[in-house]
Amino acid sequence: MPVAKRFQPFGVTIFTEITNLAQQHDAINLGQGFPNWDGPDFIKQAAARSLEGGRDQYPASPGIRELREAIARRYGPLLGRDLDPDTEITVTTGCTEALAATFLGLIDPGDEVVLIEPFYDAYPVDAALAGAVTRAVTLRPPDFRLDPEMLAAAVTDQTKAILVNTPHNPTGRVFDADELATIARLCRQHDVIAICDEVYEWMTYDTELPRLARLPGMGERTITLSSLGKTYSLTGWKVGWAIAPPGLTGGIRAAHQFLTFTTPTPVQYGAVAALEAPAHYYTELRSSYQERRDLLVDGLERVGLRPFRPDGTYFVMADHTAFGFEDDRSFCRHLIEKCGVAAIPPSVFYSDPVDGASLVRFSFSRDAATLQEAVERLSRL
Ligand SMILES: Cc1ncc(COP(=O)(O)O)c(C=O)c1O
Repeated sequence: MPVAKRFQPFGVTIFTEITNLAQQHDAINLGQGFPNWDGPDFIKQAAARSLEGGRDQYPASPGIRELREAIARRYGPLLGRDLDPDTEITVTTGCTEALAATFLGLIDPGDEVVLIEPFYDAYPVDAALAGAVTRAVTLRPPDFRLDPEMLAAAVTDQTKAILVNTPHNPTGRVFDADELATIARLCRQHDVIAICDEVYEWMTYDTELPRLARLPGMGERTITLSSLGKTYSLTGWKVGWAIAPPGLTGGIRAAHQFLTFTTPTPVQYGAVAALEAPAHYYTELRSSYQERRDLLVDGLERVGLRPFRPDGTYFVMADHTAFGFEDDRSFCRHLIEKCGVAAIPPSVFYSDPVDGASLVRFSFSRDAATLQEAVERLSRL
């Protein structure tokens, strides 16, 4: 049976492709972003208590009340308004499902959606599933700043939404107050909704994350998405959430009830404990990632790559052109086969692959010893 036409253009994700190649060559995998250590015990214990406590049946479709309340308590101050757990918060199966539910529940066929590229690979797929037309605005090295004129040119009367991922995968940019003000102005002018994917919200280095939802007129038109995976080193748990005013939440829930209906109960109870983590949890998370960032970025510089030091996420983009390879794919193949290190060729994150051909993306979501060993291996370059 052939794959349905709607998925044929997208093939197998680059993460699967690189992970398979990495395994074949016993390479250190700095490709896909997930930590090589376990999540915190206090969260796992909360989930385990739920497993032992006879909570085996379907929870409410938008998520267990305890978790929606915990999300409201945590995000109310961050987003600058009181949040109603009944009408403004939906628990989803990872941010991946929150994104799909947002597109399918709120975007009509023919609507335009502005994507900032390089983009996370699920965005164009979700847009295609919803029948949306995408318009891309490209971030370019060395600073990967959002060009206000390009963004203004991409927003038309058909635009329904702008997708803003900050901190941004794969560039590590944290969009600053000026860039967010430009986005907000265009959203207000053209009556556009903002879909904010903030899964790396607690991985910012020497800077705080400015939130689009806080800007004037934006609370009523912003959907803030996040999840447990990155912040709590629990990428396998797949618990996410969508925070949006009641009108937008209605659309998200309309899709969510038929995509997954709900998310497994034990991990939702674990998520309640996660959201109640003390402030020092976040300080330590940041400082440990900042150390890893510096270890990898300094190492990449030493071996002759040109990394762009990120302000956020656990990714770093680097320019590989000093080594004379034809493009990012041939460079990454060489890295895996000859150096034993896997990284992601970022051309797959652009609508025109040429825009990413000079770049390579590494993840520093690995312990220091693994990063050191990877840098050692890269010196074979
Ligand atoms: C920007 C971005 N959004 C969403 C996701 C998916 O999040 P989750 O694992 O919670 O579905 C990822 C995972 O890598 C990501 O990088």
